Amino acid sequence: MTSVAGKTAFITGGASGLGFATAKALVAKGGAVILADIDGARAAAAAAELRQQGANALGLQLDVTSEDSWEAAGAKARDFGAVRILFSNAGVGGGSGAFEQYDTDVWRWNYAVNAHAHLYACRTFLGEMKASGEPSHLVITSSMVAIVPPPISVAYISSKYATLGIAMALRNELGPSCVGVSVLMPGMSATRIVETTRDLRPVEQETDDAAATSHAMQGVLAGGMSPDKVGARVVEAIERDEYWIFTHPEWKSMAELVTRDMLSSFGPSADPGYRGDDIDGLIAANGGCMFGAKA
Ligand SMILES: NC(=O)c1ccc[n+]([C@@H]2O[C@H](COP(=O)([O-])OP(=O)(O)OC[C@H]3O[C@@H](n4cnc5c(N)ncnc54)[C@H](O)[C@@H]3O)[C@@H](O)[C@H]2O)c1
Repeated sequence: MTSVAGKTAFITGGASGLGFATAKALVAKGGAVILADIDGARAAAAAAELRQQGANALGLQLDVTSEDSWEAAGAKARDFGAVRILFSNAGVGGGSGAFEQYDTDVWRWNYAVNAHAHLYACRTFLGEMKASGEPSHLVITSSMVAIVPPPISVAYISSKYATLGIAMALRNELGPSCVGVSVLMPGMSATRIVETTRDLRPVEQETDDAAATSHAMQGVLAGGMSPDKVGARVVEAIERDEYWIFTHPEWKSMAELVTRDMLSSFGPSADPGYRGDDIDGLIAANGGCMFGAKA
């Protein structure tokens, strides 16, 4: 897609942070936006704020973990406009503490919001985007922690790895289609994510060390990058059809270390007599392409 002007975008987690910032950048370039968020009142207020500035914007309540909620939001979105940009972005932080002591409900909730919801998002809009034959775009929010994992929540890191995997696989699947794909890999950004995570957590609040960690994270993120800068970069990437969206280059040297560590661990084949995998055959058997190469 060379221009977002005149296109309608559906944004999950659109009431706040990176979602709302991207909405502002889209409307500044002539796009229309649907802000979908579990906090329906905040989504409605955010959309009203954009409308006051002359934008075409709709706020919707949506719980990205609920297929019924997606069905209802999808119908309302279609009444508003034909979605050609899907930004699957809603996310929450994970729990703290030793992995073996994780609360099961928090674990499931993290995966449901951060990873599983991309399926429901795509089920709702991707088919129509493909069938339209018009330039369309899917953006999925992962995180820098999916490449360089710092010592934070296992649930958060691993659900963001899953998200990166979803984007990698969709890049292959959508290669021959009219739908471009981007994966957003932000570093620290000054959003409300610690507060929203606390508000939405499905079980009682964390206490003691875990509560102190959450409080400290709030302070660290408060000094993070302006969401508006990230949002503008997302729109630029859509218009340039860029797959990777890296916003925080200070992580690059650590990404290189991670990659080098992995590559240096490749040794000889476990079976010296084996001819090696038929990777071209694997690709051909699935009728696909790799790295988003258009057919
Ligand atoms: N802030 C950062 O430093 C940072 C870094 C890397 C990645 N991210 C990712 O960016 C994305 C956006 O987060 P943010 O930082 O803007 O935080 P945010 O809390 O400001 O915005 C996230 C929005 O998602 C909504 N949300 C949460 N659960 C939902 C659900 N079940 N259904 C619908 N909406 C739901 C929240 O209500 C909130 O409005 C997330 O995927 C997050 O993991 C954030």
